[in-house]
Amino acid sequence: MPHRPYIVGNWKMNGTRAMLAEARAIDRAAGRYPDVQVALAPPFTLIGALREAVSAMGVGGQDCHTQPKGAHTGDVSAAMLVDTGADFVILGHSERRKDHGEGNAVVQAKADAALAAGLAVIVCVGETLAERDAGKADKVVAGQVDGSMPVGEGALDAVAAGKVAVAYEPVWAIGTGRVADVPDVVAMHATIRARLTAIYGEAGDKVRILYGGSVNAGNAADLLAAEGVSGALVGGASLTADAFLPIVAAAGTGEA
Ligand code: 13P
Repeated sequence: MPHRPYIVGNWKMNGTRAMLAEARAIDRAAGRYPDVQVALAPPFTLIGALREAVSAMGVGGQDCHTQPKGAHTGDVSAAMLVDTGADFVILGHSERRKDHGEGNAVVQAKADAALAAGLAVIVCVGETLAERDAGKADKVVAGQVDGSMPVGEGALDAVAAGKVAVAYEPVWAIGTGRVADVPDVVAMHATIRARLTAIYGEAGDKVRILYGGSVNAGNAADLLAAEGVSGALVGGASLTADAFLPIVAAAGTGEA
């Protein structure tokens, strides 16, 4: 694996301060796997507290607005994420694409805004079951990569600096317990890599491509060992240290 493995927990709309103990336990373990980059994206409300509670891992948001400030009730800007202690943001998650009608252009604008504010980004892509069954998975995901990745001023530098990642999350694998087959993951990651090279040239090699969708302690080792898989974006199994730590361990070369 040419990249440092990146294991990211997406807490989605889960977590109150009572869950900070889990974050601390995850952080302690992250410190024991220095070869793995570990991060959590809690809800906005916990970012500041989590930042204070942890030291070895990254802390991120799950969305940001395209604009730095203004009349956008309920929204949060990239600068605000930075201010509260985030160092990265997940963008274009399928739940946001579905629940909030986010299309590729909006995701791209958010990614550019996030990079401009100094955040690293994880841009999510993935096909629905209907799209896969119709044989369109490759085309859909390639289109999402082409349309969603940051291209603004400074984007290429951020890519070259390793601040941009993609998460391939087949929609039908999210929260379903139905993980994608390893050969299908390998094939899709190769498709994504080709698009990244087309967009960024050689620097596209620096973009880590994570897999997400029902990753757990039982399947993480196989997925993380697969060609072109540089890490995992984990939902349900990131909510407790007991569930998350075996995934971190699977990415590492052993406890120091
Ligand atoms: P699950 O791991 O719960 O399937 O969620 C994956 C996901 O959507 C992470 O962003």
